[in-house]
Amino acid sequence: ELRGVIALDGPSGTGKSTVARRLATLLGAGYLDTGAMFRAVTLAVLRAGVDPTDEVEVTRVAEGVDLRMSTDPADQDVRLGDDTVNAEIRGQAVTLAVSAVSAVPRVRELLKLHQWRIVDEACAGRGGIVVEGRDIGTAIVPDAPLKVFLTASADARARRRTSQDAAEGRKSTLDATRADVERRDGLDSSRAASPLRPAEDAVWLDTTDLDVEGVLDRILGLVDERG
Ligand code: C5P
Repeated sequence: ELRGVIALDGPSGTGKSTVARRLATLLGAGYLDTGAMFRAVTLAVLRAGVDPTDEVEVTRVAEGVDLRMSTDPADQDVRLGDDTVNAEIRGQAVTLAVSAVSAVPRVRELLKLHQWRIVDEACAGRGGIVVEGRDIGTAIVPDAPLKVFLTASADARARRRTSQDAAEGRKSTLDATRADVERRDGLDSSRAASPLRPAEDAVWLDTTDLDVEGVLDRILGLVDERG
């Protein structure tokens, strides 16, 4: 059983979501996909017809968003009000705009408060939670007892994203996906407000040559070690 928070950070296509969800299920813990939160705010921005690089307008939309997240690893519904947006937040329009929206400091501040509430609730209820994102170990839960930073080669990441797109019925090509993954990682790593970077005390895990079971084994080993 997990006590507290496992922070799982890294760039896109490293297998974070699959691993985080499976890990939460195995440990009887909660699961929070913070990328889905940034994607949902981005969808609200696009629906409002706002330019994702317009910080003032993006902030105004973010302040009015009614975002509802589930921490049940078996039921990952993301809602804007009563509207379930799981599929739409994975679409191309949101994927293209999300890095601009997530670079807006006020958006990060609002989502940080929301993430803290969710983490507190899950720790009180289930005892622990696996939180996945870019800045969990550095900015959101810097005192997490276990932080893992997942990496993988650019090729492996593009391949994973492409097969995930195919499995979920989205059209994409390996080249376009590779370009998109590199574009987003560049933006996410270079922004001023809590950029994507490993915490100093994070354990690095290169997933290039590991399957999901292999990654899970390593992380469960770390959970055991730290008791
Ligand atoms: O994890 P996912 O690819 O769904 O994340 C989508 C985007 O959300 C990232 O490219 C990044 O711009 C943003 N994000 C973030 N901080 C997080 C999680 C996601 O800035 N903790």
